[in-house]
Amino acid sequence: MIEIQSDYPTTKPELYTLLQQQLRALVEGERHSIPNLANTAALLAGALLKINWVGFYLMTDGYLLLGPFQGKPACLRIALGSGVCGTAAALDETQRIADVHCFPGHIACDCASNSEIVIPIHAGGKVIGVLDIDSPFPNRFDEE
Ligand code: SME
Repeated sequence: MIEIQSDYPTTKPELYTLLQQQLRALVEGERHSIPNLANTAALLAGALLKINWVGFYLMTDGYLLLGPFQGKPACLRIALGSGVCGTAAALDETQRIADVHCFPGHIACDCASNSEIVIPIHAGGKVIGVLDIDSPFPNRFDEE
């Protein structure tokens, strides 16, 4: 359960600016991706309301391999083009799914999830993985 602090930002731009600052401080001085992604997942899990899973899948030998995350155990490998994550990576397009039960081929890792957003991550001009966030609430993720 996340407790809302009295100084918790009241708008999304405020929250995202604060998270950006916190994330910069967390990754500063560390070049290895695993601790940085692990801390990023922990930061987002503590800051974002109404979510039940947040984490990374990383491009590895042509498929997406489970990376650092917060939430229930999840499927280990996802083929490009499969599920919401594989679709986001294959198309290199954010997938914002209001109702995962209506997404053909959705891979259910936590049956509590009802909506999901998957955002491709780039390095060197190509997709190197995705950030995946699930929510038990329908239509949790807006464009902002
Ligand atoms: N739902 C995802 C699978 C990963 S879990 O949500 C953690 C998908 O359909 O690709």
